[in-house]
Amino acid sequence: MRISQLYKKHAFMLKPMVSEIKNRIKKGDTVVDMGCGTGIYLNLLHKQVGKKGKIIAIDKSTDMVAYCRMKFRKQNITIRKLPAEKISMIKEPVDVVFASLVLQFTRINKAISSISKILKPKGLLIFAVPLYRTGITIGIDKASNEFKKELERNIKVELEKRDIGKKAYLDYPNSRNKAFKEALRKGKFRVLRWSILPLGKNNLKFLMDYYKIPWRSEKILEIPFKKRYSILAAALKRTFEMHPKFIVKRHYLIAAVRKK
Ligand SMILES: C[S@@+](CC[C@H](N)C(=O)[O-])C[C@H]1O[C@@H](n2cnc3c(N)ncnc32)[C@H](O)[C@@H]1O
Repeated sequence: MRISQLYKKHAFMLKPMVSEIKNRIKKGDTVVDMGCGTGIYLNLLHKQVGKKGKIIAIDKSTDMVAYCRMKFRKQNITIRKLPAEKISMIKEPVDVVFASLVLQFTRINKAISSISKILKPKGLLIFAVPLYRTGITIGIDKASNEFKKELERNIKVELEKRDIGKKAYLDYPNSRNKAFKEALRKGKFRVLRWSILPLGKNNLKFLMDYYKIPWRSEKILEIPFKKRYSILAAALKRTFEMHPKFIVKRHYLIAAVRKK
């Protein structure tokens, strides 16, 4: 399946990002949607900047770019295949860089300094990143730790059953919050908003869909996708039998910063 098709099923707008767009982006602004993916924010961004504004949507994936070019054919929306680190190739001055769930994939210092170069003085960067790659955050609370350990144990059992001698990691120690603050300080940005928000759901279907993407994109296990999915399904099912009331919380950092 093409990545754009897969992502289309799972992409969802984060409510705080919608408010950020509505509250901070003005008519006539030039906005870069960095890592636009399937363009879930493009219509809203377009409406917000109006006829006199301009949207430049960029993504490093050929497939995402092709998808957006097919779907969004408006005079003031330009779609370009460009990695975040090379954003400085955009030569026009930009009022806002909007980056939903993409900066976590970039070399952050390089990306921030490139963003700073294209932004006008006092230009804005609005972004969201998941603080952990998977849903279950380490060390946030006892229940999460227990659920996660149990899930890892069950995945190991499933892998052994199938004679696959690989290890599954569901999370990585993560210092994203700190790394982002530091990069933005170096890039001379002033923080307007910095909030860490949990999003929780405890339904199995949601979790399955949820893990499918990290497992796929991070190449944690180099085994075929379908097989991986069935391992995960079995392990999750068993884990939920042990922890029926567990609610998975994914923590997102939502930030708005202004260039000094
Ligand atoms: C999780 S999706 C987010 C898509 C969209 N912004 C949204 O919120 O639905 C991440 C997107 O970033 C793109 N991407 C990943 N690394 C990138 C990079 N270094 N430069 C530009 N795009 C990148 C991927 O191709 C993908 O389309």
